[in-house]
Amino acid sequence: MQITGETTITGVFGWPVKHSLSPVFQNAAFLYSGLNWVYIPFEVNPENLGKAVDAIRVFSIKGINITIPHKKNVPQYVDSVDDDVNLLGVANTIVNENGILKGYTTDGIGFLRSLKEDGGFDPAGKNVFMFGSGGSAFALSGTLVKAGISNLIICNRTYEKAVMLKNHLKKHFGFENIEIVQFKKRNHPSLWKNVDLVINTTSIGMNEDNIILVEEKNLSENIFVYDIVYNRKTNLIETSLKRGIRCLDGLSMLIFQGAVSFTLWTGIDAPVEIMKKAIGDYRKNGKK
Ligand SMILES: NC(=O)c1ccc[n+]([C@@H]2O[C@H](COP(=O)([O-])OP(=O)(O)OC[C@H]3O[C@@H](n4cnc5c(N)ncnc54)[C@H](OP(=O)(O)O)[C@@H]3O)[C@@H](O)[C@H]2O)c1
Repeated sequence: MQITGETTITGVFGWPVKHSLSPVFQNAAFLYSGLNWVYIPFEVNPENLGKAVDAIRVFSIKGINITIPHKKNVPQYVDSVDDDVNLLGVANTIVNENGILKGYTTDGIGFLRSLKEDGGFDPAGKNVFMFGSGGSAFALSGTLVKAGISNLIICNRTYEKAVMLKNHLKKHFGFENIEIVQFKKRNHPSLWKNVDLVINTTSIGMNEDNIILVEEKNLSENIFVYDIVYNRKTNLIETSLKRGIRCLDGLSMLIFQGAVSFTLWTGIDAPVEIMKKAIGDYRKNGKK
């Protein structure tokens, strides 16, 4: 990669940002696509977020990803947002069109593409058991409802947040086939009889000492397992792999949400396989 006077700048705002894998696969994608573009990590202290967004205009930065902890706060600083950002109140991508900044969220669509393209799983007509009621759960469940799932079980540590998510899906999508399950009752066998897809959107599994989310007895060969945690192989993924159950971890979603951002900025399809290979090579070299 050679930086020239004509290089187009993109990047990510986070705090911290050192752990971000996005520079690895976005720069690989630019290089492969023959684009004179670069993707840079920007460590942005939350109190400077407004100034950092202004800098996108000042420096004619073409596109920015937004990661923890800025996703909720960034929409107030851009000029417009797409429908999903309006609905969810979070943005993870900014596109700069001649100084006008528009916010998008690519997590939901990235997850769906990952599920279909990497997992070969179409959620239409399926029964889904989803753990979590945080930001990712709101984004993913809305996308799944739009994709035509039949039934949804929501299970979250804080019951009231699951109720909020249920009300949100009813209000905005008219979707009512939702059962809320108390977190301590999650492994009751009767809940698992007709489950086609189980999704973990919680941070359980990010650390080695985390609890067992789903007991092995409830994971049948008919289930597809999706765990959006991507920093390590969770117990849920390890158990699924051991049992030969179809599964995906969060790396696939991470790449596809980035692929959607890439296309929003460049207007061309993202080279997804190149992006995956870049992460694979990076991790082979002992990096997280
Ligand atoms: N693969 C990707 O591209 C991608 C993208 C975004 C996020 N993620 C991952 O998804 C996870 C959640 O992210 P988020 O942005 O949705 O976070 P969030 O809004 O903070 O939500 C966190 C969720 O995890 C639950 N939780 C946290 N600690 C728990 C514990 N010890 N026991 C039970 N439940 C617990 C919370 O339950 P309560 O409501 O009870 O607090 C909540 O449902 C993180 O691991 C993140 O890295 C992956």
